[in-house]
Amino acid sequence: MIALEHVSKRYGGVAAVDDVSLTIPTGEIFGIVGQSGAGKSTLARLVNLIERPDAGTVTVDGAELTALGEGELRAARRRIGMVFQRFNLLGSRTVRGNVELALELDGTPRAERRERALEMLDLVGLSHRADASVHELSGGQQQRVGIARALAARPRVLLSDEATSALDPETTASILELYRRINAELGLTVLLITHEMDVVKAVCDSAALVEAGRVVESGRLVDLIRTPGSRLTAQLFPLGPIPDSVPAEATVIDITFAGGTADRPVIAQLARDHGLDVSILGALIERIGGTQAGRTRLEVPGAAASAVVADLRGQGLLVEVLRTGAAA
Ligand SMILES: Nc1ncnc2c1ncn2[C@@H]1O[C@H](COP(=O)(O)OP(=O)(O)OP(=O)(O)O)[C@@H](O)[C@H]1O
Ligand SMILES: [Mg+2]
Repeated sequence: MIALEHVSKRYGGVAAVDDVSLTIPTGEIFGIVGQSGAGKSTLARLVNLIERPDAGTVTVDGAELTALGEGELRAARRRIGMVFQRFNLLGSRTVRGNVELALELDGTPRAERRERALEMLDLVGLSHRADASVHELSGGQQQRVGIARALAARPRVLLSDEATSALDPETTASILELYRRINAELGLTVLLITHEMDVVKAVCDSAALVEAGRVVESGRLVDLIRTPGSRLTAQLFPLGPIPDSVPAEATVIDITFAGGTADRPVIAQLARDHGLDVSILGALIERIGGTQAGRTRLEVPGAAASAVVADLRGQGLLVEVLRTGAAA
């Protein structure tokens, strides 16, 4: 588990991280999302204490890092692996040499280093390139080396800061698939920092939205998609603004379907029961947090809107009214 309690970090006049409290359960893939400059990378550096917080406590895998001296902290950091956007590999070393690096620093004997590096390269599907120079590898392969290196010292937690941002969609998908596999096989907790909601959709169990140094929303995705007004959910279903063509009399609603409600013929039934011409303005179906989920935006004409909303809510559906029509 990772636990941050009232953690803050300022740079001059900027509150890069501002009173953040966050618990990341063991074994989860937890996404940290937010715009550029929101404080995501600073948050990551506070988790492994590369950066000391001005205030608050950081606990990782049972050890309160903020209470440790430099020597103990070095040992505790071995339990936290880190993967970067720009890979940060050493061009003067072979693929295997890069993976061994983390183990050299803590004095692991040569034979054991070699064996462990080959084991990790096998895990990421690159054992056949162990003796290659890193320059001979593609971006996706280099990131696999970065992941193998981060895993070599047997961490309990993996911090990944925009690890897929420099990669094309297909390569991104294969790296995310690798994360999911190491999360399942090694029981590793993964803190995944990203600005891409598609990454969150693809692998995260939970996520937190960061804005101007603060966590403004967090939770399990399966719960968030059932939470009215969730901003993370709105980003997971980017239906955009209401089109200008929708008349002012009409009410506009979003219905969110999750799990069991995803395959019910709700809209056909609505049209039948209320004798209405509902128009679908937009719809998206996604697999989110391991659940089939969808959001449909409807234009509901006339005075029937409130009865329609009550009916849908009565069926246990999440209904959000985006705009109440003039005729409602
Ligand atoms: N070492 C530093 N010195 C001074 N200011 C910093 C430093 N690191 C971060 N900041 C400031 O703190 C704020 C948060 O930066 P941070 O790098 O954490 O954002 P981010 O969410 O990771 O952004 P991006 O998505 O662009 O990587 C920014 O305003 C940034 O300018
Ligand atoms: Mg960053």
